[in-house]
Amino acid sequence: MENRYVLAERSERVLVLRLNRPKQLNALNTELMSELVSALEEADRDPEVGSVVITGDERAFAAGADIREMAEASPAEMLLRNNLALWDRIQGIGKPIIAAVSGYALGGGCELAMACDMIVASETASFGQPEIDIGVMPGAGGTQRLTRAIGKARAMEMVLTGRPITAREALELGLVNRVVPREVYLEEAAALAREIASKPPIAVRLAKQSVRRALDTTIDTGLEFERRAFYMLFSTEDQKEGMRAFVEKRRPEWKGR
Ligand code: CAA
Repeated sequence: MENRYVLAERSERVLVLRLNRPKQLNALNTELMSELVSALEEADRDPEVGSVVITGDERAFAAGADIREMAEASPAEMLLRNNLALWDRIQGIGKPIIAAVSGYALGGGCELAMACDMIVASETASFGQPEIDIGVMPGAGGTQRLTRAIGKARAMEMVLTGRPITAREALELGLVNRVVPREVYLEEAAALAREIASKPPIAVRLAKQSVRRALDTTIDTGLEFERRAFYMLFSTEDQKEGMRAFVEKRRPEWKGR
């Protein structure tokens, strides 16, 4: 099926997914989110893809969920549409996802960036949860992920005032991995994605899952998960190859098995 709102381009083992509703500042309507989630799930199954970058354009990563689409909806309609269930499927993606953010990352746009594993921001990026100013509150994970990322005090301030923060503030607060000039944010994100895509894929997948676990479980359960994943990797050819290559002082060649 031809995508309308999400353009996909693969370079070596990195898939770049570009949100493509520039006139609406990439507002996340149902169709865009469906296309995005389908593309992510396809990438997750594709052995030729090692990691994914999600980006928008220079003006906006995404200015939130599509307000026009939901302005007149009743609670029952919202429940039946259940668009937010699409977001749960992003959680299930095993390959690393990097958000390359320039311009607005507001509301659902900020939530989408936070649902990714890492964020590379342009100096022009701004992050915010302005839902309070349209009579609602974050609904796609904002109150949970923002609080885990930057702590209660600042998350509370952002969610209750709706005021955005700059890329530099986001860096200081630990919301983003790095801030780079506007001209290179996408290339920086792609370079990070390329580096990760060159690593042994099964170890990458389990390591991602394990770090994610740290955010939502007890230390004991998290350590147990980590240990099992670590032992499991000794069943892979890549573990044998990686350790033999170290001993033999040569570069490993990963098989993804
Ligand atoms: N939904 C639908 N359309 C949107 C949109 C959104 N979230 N954000 C921007 N647009 C549209 C505007 O309606 C406008 O379209 P028209 O030209 O057809 O009128 C176009 O994009 C350009 O926007 P502006 O003219 O407003 O551009 P600006 O530069 O003056 O302002 C902005 C930029 C400050 C980002 C402003 O557009 C804005 O405040 N947008 C809404 C931000 C917001 O409230 N996001 C939260 C949405 S709710 C949500 O996300 C819920 C959730 O948790 C899942």
